[in-house]
Amino acid sequence: MEKIYLDRNENNYGPSKKCFEAVKLITPDLFNTYSTTYKSGYKSTLSKRLSDEFNITEDRVLLGYGAEDLLKQVVLTYLKEKTEKLLVPDHSWWYYKEIANETNSVSVEYPIVEGEESYEYDIDKLLDIYNAEKPKVVFIASPNNPTGNSISGDQLTYVLDRMSESVVVLDEAYWLSSDSEKATELVNKYSNLIIIRTFSKLYALAGIRIGYAIIGEQLNQIKKTSNRYLGYNRISEKIALAALDSVDYYNGIAEKMASDRDLYFTELNKIKNVKVYKSEANFVLVKIEKDLMNPLKEFLVERGIIIKFMNEEIVNSHLRITLGTKEENRKVISAITEFYKSL
Ligand SMILES: Cc1ncc(COP(=O)(O)O)c(C=O)c1O
Repeated sequence: MEKIYLDRNENNYGPSKKCFEAVKLITPDLFNTYSTTYKSGYKSTLSKRLSDEFNITEDRVLLGYGAEDLLKQVVLTYLKEKTEKLLVPDHSWWYYKEIANETNSVSVEYPIVEGEESYEYDIDKLLDIYNAEKPKVVFIASPNNPTGNSISGDQLTYVLDRMSESVVVLDEAYWLSSDSEKATELVNKYSNLIIIRTFSKLYALAGIRIGYAIIGEQLNQIKKTSNRYLGYNRISEKIALAALDSVDYYNGIAEKMASDRDLYFTELNKIKNVKVYKSEANFVLVKIEKDLMNPLKEFLVERGIIIKFMNEEIVNSHLRITLGTKEENRKVISAITEFYKSL
């Protein structure tokens, strides 16, 4: 039986044709030689291209081995003393707290609260905790994993206006639109801001491991620590550049994902005691009764459907379903519906 993997927030629609064409054009020199772009005065063809796209200087574009790497670089750079704090959402990607552990810093949580149709940032609580804890670094994820909600533009500027003492990281790994203007405006206005994005989600290139950050002007330390004197992965860069050249394809994917989310929201919310939250990411969070978690898991696994059954304390009766292709989504929805009919 062919399995459907919808548990790791990958993108099952796959990358654009141009990405595959770029692979075919890879020449042997890309394997055995370092990049020489420094001779032309820039770090890498990809960060140069991103700097043009965001209309900022190339030194303010950082590349990393996925967003994962950049998040760790920020913590390693700015959290030096054991008493220094990293402020993270309570519902969040487990990795945030893990990097605080690894670096012996302290992670402090702020709440993401359940609203009527979606989870929400509670800005007043976030600022109360910020003022009490005085963290060195703050992580805000938009959209957030696993809740799927974003912080609004107004909320974001409201908090940034009050967080000038810290380095603020906006993790936009799950952003699904190609607009670059707003991001540029933000990093130009807030010199302590780092916006992190990745090629893993929208661009369906998780395997090539490339993430990037655009950063505020004041952040000289991270510019230094993220420097890679021998360049970046020359092959991954070619594929990422081809993805940036495929705007129409990825706008199409973002549209498909919006309708996929609507399908889950409408169809699964019809089932009694099942709640699908509104999401802006490539996954949806679904709440079910706790004692049905194991039986549903078994039922789906028997049918080759792998989704994420959350087991953290504050989200332990929840499923996180990564959006699949149209066909996969229909299979998941009909399997869950069939499960509830069989009860
Ligand atoms: C919120 C968030 N940020 C970043 C990442 C990692 O992205 P990358 O593949 O670029 O390391 C993930 C991975 O699932 C994530 O959930």
